[in-house]
Amino acid sequence: MAKVKTKWVCQNCGYETLKYIGKCPDCGTWGSLVEETECITKSSNQSVIIDDNPICLINEIKITESIRISTGYEEFDRVLGSGLVQGSLVLLAGDPGIGKSTLILQTAGHICSKGNKLIYVCAEESGSQVKLRAKRLNVNSDNLYVYSQTNLEAVINQLDVIKPDFLVIDSIQSVYTSNITSSSGSVSQIRECTNILMDIAKNKNITVIIIGHVTKEGNIAGPKVLEHMVDTVIYFEGDKYKSQRLLRAIKNRFGSTNEIGVFNMIDNGLEEVNNPSELFMKERTDNATPGSVIIAANEGTRALLVEVQALVGSTSYPSPRRVSTGVEYNRLLQIIAVLEKRIGLNLSKHDVYVNVIGGIEIDEPAADLGIALAIATCFRDVVVDSDCVIIGEISLSGEIRNVSDIEKRIYEAQKLGFKKAIVPKLSKKLPQGLSEIEIIQVPRLMDAIKVCVSKK
Ligand code: TYD
Ligand code: MG
Repeated sequence: MAKVKTKWVCQNCGYETLKYIGKCPDCGTWGSLVEETECITKSSNQSVIIDDNPICLINEIKITESIRISTGYEEFDRVLGSGLVQGSLVLLAGDPGIGKSTLILQTAGHICSKGNKLIYVCAEESGSQVKLRAKRLNVNSDNLYVYSQTNLEAVINQLDVIKPDFLVIDSIQSVYTSNITSSSGSVSQIRECTNILMDIAKNKNITVIIIGHVTKEGNIAGPKVLEHMVDTVIYFEGDKYKSQRLLRAIKNRFGSTNEIGVFNMIDNGLEEVNNPSELFMKERTDNATPGSVIIAANEGTRALLVEVQALVGSTSYPSPRRVSTGVEYNRLLQIIAVLEKRIGLNLSKHDVYVNVIGGIEIDEPAADLGIALAIATCFRDVVVDSDCVIIGEISLSGEIRNVSDIEKRIYEAQKLGFKKAIVPKLSKKLPQGLSEIEIIQVPRLMDAIKVCVSKK
């Protein structure tokens, strides 16, 4: 007989309790607990256990090479770790309207053109809406099935009929399973549906792509619940009012998580950007401006040139403001402390804003020197030469420390026409015999300022 259970579930982290409490004891969010009724209709008789996965010695396990299928986009493939792994469960998350459905429909078109069957479950849109978009994107294939359905059991029935290689769920917040009665989009439903989809991926060897909307607070509804269950979590980010989009892996069981993929949203869908440095440099004026510096960041397997901007102005607050976008806040505080102590800049009465252009997040210390020069030049109203790229980590003593993959960064700078690269004195493996770019090695922060900063 069906068992009905009432519980309160935190919509932020999935914490469950039997009675209402105002603040979630797990994640500390106020008012996030919602009453959910769960009606478990499945038989709970588990006395007979069929063990088709026996225990074995690690030496006896044979490694089977996982099959990877290309998405048709180099940028997407790289973020996934060279393509989609067959039988894996991928979560693509992002703000509503950012272009998730567009990306997946275009990918689906490519996958199907290679002879794979794919079911696209559009739980939010009608079949004709999807068809209209497919027409705009020029996606057409005899292997692409569109199913406007919100019930997961109905989808499962179709799996036996169509026998697809891929299944896309757009979106996880709009599908539901009849196993439990709570409404679609609730943490319980999302968790249960993802469980079922995981089962489909592993047992039927179908590659499942789940699309998930990010809520206003920046979480995929039921975030923690979803992220640990799936194999790969990819975020699709960008400013809705600009055309540039970034793909970023947050978790990947089959590849690294420090790769990014860059796309441009144009009239007929997304086009990949194979040389993002060029894109990030496009909006830059040729004249050097105080507070603007180009750094060479390392994003996974490639180097990326990005602009760091700083604004320093006298404060009207009792304690000055420090605001960072794209740079870790504590890192910024540390750089300001070094500038005050080692260079003698008195920033205690100045607000400091630092921004990385293009929505890129820089979390490596190699950007330190660039950030420091951006702040220092804005404060003193001088400029870093516009043909100069800055690379280096700053120690608390003001010395410039070595960074990884220096060669890759310098080659990227040369490719984009930069004439000077400021690098740490102790850099190993510097590229030899480059005629178009001058490599200047600096031991301390003060020396970097001397070689590349000039009056406006
Ligand atoms: P969509 O894929 O529906 O977003 P999501 O699934 O993440 O909610 O994309 C919606 C936006 O993309 C919409 O505002 C219009 C824009 N867009 C284009 O600019 N060009 C296109 O070819 C398409 C299909 C969408
Ligand atoms: Mg959509």
